[in-house]
Amino acid sequence: MLCAALNLYESNEVAEMRKSVYAGPGYTVFKSFIAPDIARDLGKRWFSGMYNHLLHDGFIKNQELAKDTPSFLIRRPNECDWSICHQIWQAPLDETAHNIAMECQRMRNLIEGRPLYYATRIHDSLVMQYRLCRTLSPGVTVKPHADFMEESRHDPSGSHAFDPRRTQMTLFLSDYGTDYDEGGFKFMTNDERYVTFGRDVDVGAGDLVIWKYTNKHEVSDVRVLNDSVLGFSRIVFPLFEGVMAR
Ligand SMILES: [Fe+2]
Repeated sequence: MLCAALNLYESNEVAEMRKSVYAGPGYTVFKSFIAPDIARDLGKRWFSGMYNHLLHDGFIKNQELAKDTPSFLIRRPNECDWSICHQIWQAPLDETAHNIAMECQRMRNLIEGRPLYYATRIHDSLVMQYRLCRTLSPGVTVKPHADFMEESRHDPSGSHAFDPRRTQMTLFLSDYGTDYDEGGFKFMTNDERYVTFGRDVDVGAGDLVIWKYTNKHEVSDVRVLNDSVLGFSRIVFPLFEGVMAR
């Protein structure tokens, strides 16, 4: 799909997606970025707990992330809400997840107009972590906030200077209406309307949403259906500054 022989940065598809993020609703949806079955299986594999013994299970602050930090598990805000954090610069514990994360990052680089492999290597100025996140709790689990709007952070992953170029990605691993309903990922569009992905925008397992990081977003009001182990599951892709120096 991503062939170096083409001028990908100027392809019509990328131009349309870029327009959608910066001058349209504030997000673009890449339907079936991976097959729905692969997305759901990936979520079930990690959220069953079968690989938890491979993960460091003590809290690691963003500010303390270093070159040799192992993959780790955060249980927040409640015991059942997990974020499984893998560093892109380390040997993968899950080849499928790692390859998918690489593909997602290349997609973001195209949208943001950066070098194709930016943030996938330890020596880059920003480097990527990918987090498999599973929310089962109701109520507010990620408070409404915007990134790179100079809002102060208790535990930053780097500078939060205003940067309207920055995007974040959410790769859905579960389905609204099957695994959860009512709420989930809520996002304020460029014209300041709130949408809930899955409910208001047709998004499900395997779909990649690339969205403008300076827009308000939150995770709240998840109601788990059918005793799903997935609840609201997704992968997000934070970038860390200056890891090489730590
Ligand atoms: Fe955020």
